[in-house]
Amino acid sequence: MKFDQPAGQNPIDQLKVVGKPTDRIDGKYKTTGTAPYAYERHDVAANQAYGYVLGASIAKGRVRAIHTEDAKRAPGVLGIVTTLETPRLERGMMNAAYLFGGDQIQHYHQAVAVVVAETFEQARAAAFLVAVDYTPDAGKFDLAVEAKGAPPVPGDSGEGSGGDGEERVGDFEGAFAQAPVTLDERYTTADESHAMMEPHATIAAWDGDKVTLWTSNQMIGWGHGSLAKILGVPKENVRLDSPYVGGGFGGKLFVRADAVLAALAAKALKRPVKVALTRPLIANNTTHRPATIQRVRIGATKDGTITAIAHESTSGNLPDGDPETAVSQTKLLYAGANRLTAMKLAHLDLPEGNAMRAPGEAPGLMVLEVAMDEMAEKLGMDPVEFRIRNDTQVDPQDPKRPFSKRDLVGCLRLGAETFGWAKRNPRPGQVRDGQWLVGHGMAAAFRNNMVLKSGARVRLDGDGTVTVETDMTDIGTGSYTIIAQTAAEMMGVTLDRVVVRLGDSAFPVSSGSGGQFGANSSTAGVYAACVKLREAVAQRLGINSEDAVFADGQVRAGNRAVPLGEAAAQGALSAEDTIEFGDLSKKQQQSTFGAHFVEVGVDADTAEIRVRRMLAVCAAGRILNPKSARSQVIGGMVMGTGAALMEELAVDTKRGFFANHDLAGYEVPVHADIPHQEVIFLDEVDPMSSPMKAKGVGELGICGVGAAVANAVYNATGIRVRDYPLTLDKFL
Ligand code: MOS
Repeated sequence: MKFDQPAGQNPIDQLKVVGKPTDRIDGKYKTTGTAPYAYERHDVAANQAYGYVLGASIAKGRVRAIHTEDAKRAPGVLGIVTTLETPRLERGMMNAAYLFGGDQIQHYHQAVAVVVAETFEQARAAAFLVAVDYTPDAGKFDLAVEAKGAPPVPGDSGEGSGGDGEERVGDFEGAFAQAPVTLDERYTTADESHAMMEPHATIAAWDGDKVTLWTSNQMIGWGHGSLAKILGVPKENVRLDSPYVGGGFGGKLFVRADAVLAALAAKALKRPVKVALTRPLIANNTTHRPATIQRVRIGATKDGTITAIAHESTSGNLPDGDPETAVSQTKLLYAGANRLTAMKLAHLDLPEGNAMRAPGEAPGLMVLEVAMDEMAEKLGMDPVEFRIRNDTQVDPQDPKRPFSKRDLVGCLRLGAETFGWAKRNPRPGQVRDGQWLVGHGMAAAFRNNMVLKSGARVRLDGDGTVTVETDMTDIGTGSYTIIAQTAAEMMGVTLDRVVVRLGDSAFPVSSGSGGQFGANSSTAGVYAACVKLREAVAQRLGINSEDAVFADGQVRAGNRAVPLGEAAAQGALSAEDTIEFGDLSKKQQQSTFGAHFVEVGVDADTAEIRVRRMLAVCAAGRILNPKSARSQVIGGMVMGTGAALMEELAVDTKRGFFANHDLAGYEVPVHADIPHQEVIFLDEVDPMSSPMKAKGVGELGICGVGAAVANAVYNATGIRVRDYPLTLDKFL
């Protein structure tokens, strides 16, 4: 189905099942430990051996020799695959670094060998007996140093968003020079780790020249193609299966060393092999969100109208890596006739930087929304009013392009009212609650709404059961549930009549889970398949499909009513389709909006910072399931609080690695750290987004929340820190 005009009335609009706060179908399996994660799938292949990945102990250079004799003699060892005996393998989708093969080391903890044994403990013990000789090279590890002279990222042709080079509208420098009120500040954000609960893990088994990988991956379609390329086998000989994913946050968008090494070792040993990356390997062997150095300049008239806005960002990466696109929201969030956004990309020999939840906008809004708070203070304006004054209903880079839906102002006003913003003391450092300095802060939230082609297959069985199959993943987001809700609504059955099967590359290719595009895109694919199934049902029953009504487990036409299952009495009916998005998303800018409000307490003596309460108001199209959407947003708010207060990979700039590579040294907040979180969704539908009229919310929750925390800390203390996270040493 091609989606190339705004969605009209359709069965989803009944909202009998869609839009309800249904409990997550997978929730009971996950909370009772009965949802098998990749590493725990003991039943999929007999005789599984354990692989332990050895990471390089230099950050750059060459492997001269790998001595495996002692390790091979160790108890239980079955074999060792080393990078020297493997040719450098192709890279998969979005891989900036090579994952295995050859003698070149691009970053610390790059995999150099996998040791396979009968037990995990034997494999680990033997791995310590492997001696590796290196010839190290000097590397570049310090962003602050390499940022000087970093080359600009080439500009794009300027469709207003998406590309991220230097883009200009009007005369920024001229307008900034003439503006009566100006701000020009520099900010830094830290390298961050995904720190998902479930590490990267894969079991691989070969059957002749066919390989199956039971793995943990967000994007099965990408992973499927990537593994075929990396392993040099035809796609039809590779199967990926990833029904449960214990968190990804972008770290599992692509194939990593666990999958590649499990497949290579299983092939070498002719036996199934399972490989999990240990927690320390996750920081340095996989990807992270790159640190940034950002500069924001804003010029405004005395009444608070922005006349000039510039946002520049420098980040670093391996030579084939991408920049952190921290300026992207600044192209679209506020009006202003004269604009500049630009990025520079420094060469760093640290582990690969890549997507982490709301890449670009999360660290970009951390900075822009603090700058907006600073600017409001300079103007003597309320920060909510300053943002409302500079709202825009069109793409500021291309005024002919409207937003499909944009109610940032609605979010700001309802948020301010609900939170009690009017009672806030705008003068910092004035409010005390015993030991605590109390502060209130807010920020706007913004994240683009991408739409991706997505396919599904739907089957009706004689007992009336509807089974949906798609390679879509559920990374803890609720995909199983909203897909079941979609199929139930379309086929007129209750949720318990729907079975959803996900994450298998044998199923139709979906959007996958990333970039907050998964919920809207994948359910739209299920919608398309259900439209076809409805036609097949009507045809089989000899009903004109225009007249058929699917409701209460029946198909009705005129005064005829037939149980749905009867259509499949002579044999199951199956339909498959893929939703493909035309250029609607180019004609109109599709984005999601929100407002975050935060209250913090800062200990007057120790500067310990505690978030006391948070509120988010979101405008993100139709909300398919308010319960799972709320969970996404409050999770994002916790993660954004981490970015503001705690999360920082500490770079050893001499030896080139992240030193705090476990959850003891890399601290993340949890829900229990924040006693009160509230989320309000504006009642909205976006007919431009898909037949579902929905948009993403998962990443919206993390966007801007860190700035709201930082602005609240400033309001509490009167100390403006521009170097994130706001660890307490910066306040003493
Ligand atoms: Mo997201 S960073 O696209 O998983």
